[in-house]
Amino acid sequence: MNTINIIDKLYKENIATREELLYLLDNIDKDSINYLTEKANEVRMKTYKDKVYMRGLIEFTNYCVRDCKYCGIRKSNKDADRYRLTVEQIVNCAVLGDKLGYKTVVLQGGEDPFFTDEIMVEIITKIKSILPNNAITLSIGERSYESYKKMFKAGADRYLLRHETATKTLYEKLHPNASFENRRKCLEDLREIGYQIGSGFMIGLPEQDNNSLVDDLIYTKQLKPHMCGIGPFIPHKDTPLNNEEGGTLEKTIIMIAILRLLLPDTLLPATTSLGTIDPTGREKGIKAGANVVMPNLSPTDVREKYSLYDGKICTGDEAAECRMCIERRMNNIGFQIDISRGDSILWEKESK
Ligand code: 5AD
Ligand code: FES
Repeated sequence: MNTINIIDKLYKENIATREELLYLLDNIDKDSINYLTEKANEVRMKTYKDKVYMRGLIEFTNYCVRDCKYCGIRKSNKDADRYRLTVEQIVNCAVLGDKLGYKTVVLQGGEDPFFTDEIMVEIITKIKSILPNNAITLSIGERSYESYKKMFKAGADRYLLRHETATKTLYEKLHPNASFENRRKCLEDLREIGYQIGSGFMIGLPEQDNNSLVDDLIYTKQLKPHMCGIGPFIPHKDTPLNNEEGGTLEKTIIMIAILRLLLPDTLLPATTSLGTIDPTGREKGIKAGANVVMPNLSPTDVREKYSLYDGKICTGDEAAECRMCIERRMNNIGFQIDISRGDSILWEKESK
């Protein structure tokens, strides 16, 4: 076994054993990282070419009933300055996003009971009546099957629910009073209902070793999500993990590239957290096989408050500035912004 052979196998067959993935993570060096990212880039060029899809992110509430140890908007953080956007503000953001060329809007928030199924249905229905051809992605955590179904029927197209970590013991340490099994069940429910699903996980969580990252790779390969969002863990000062070390650029890039080889058709975002730990982190993610960016569309006066981790970028920039910034950044590295809805190839294959 050597790293180059494993990368070649991943490139040719899009598969590897647990032992091979672990060997690769344990032994990868600078040269093989270069080889890995080149191969991942080649695969993305075959599937999605040099096109980068855009989604406009609206962070509409930072109230949350959960207490995830890593997250700055966890309910125990009494220092979080809580806000909720009104239905009208959310709809206006989606309309502004459309004008800026975002044909997908992502509605993300904490798990906030204020946003009942009825209110979510109202928001989705209003956006769809104005923008019938645009896609709506929800990212509002764990809800019941019936709730997911109602929102789907109202017009929601996609749902992002990161699995966070595929190692049960680690999941349970990080998520007080939450169920590892239920989170996975939610992803199954969402797929069964008809959503395009997005899973994902963090890199560099406390006690997460290479074995655990292999769990994430294998789980994601089996789940075959339409999208998989991965980014470094970044400590937040007002959480129990404030003194921990965060994830690294290098490890995140390696994981993006391996995922691209395992899942050639899956959408992989270059995340804001990656752009936060390195000034050109998102560009590096794209060059390693990612093909989606999700600039912020939230009103500027609430951006600082949606503080999941310290140092988050773009908190002072108007939506239009982020829009131009991201296009310039992509063009600088030889990629083109694609302003279509940007459905996953996997979805198009499944729909045929
Ligand atoms: N560092 C990096 N990512 C975080 N998230 C939450 N808190 C942090 C943090 N401290 C991620 C989670 C969540 C997504 C919306 O943000 O993976 O699913
Ligand atoms: Fe927001 Fe660059 S993407 S300022």
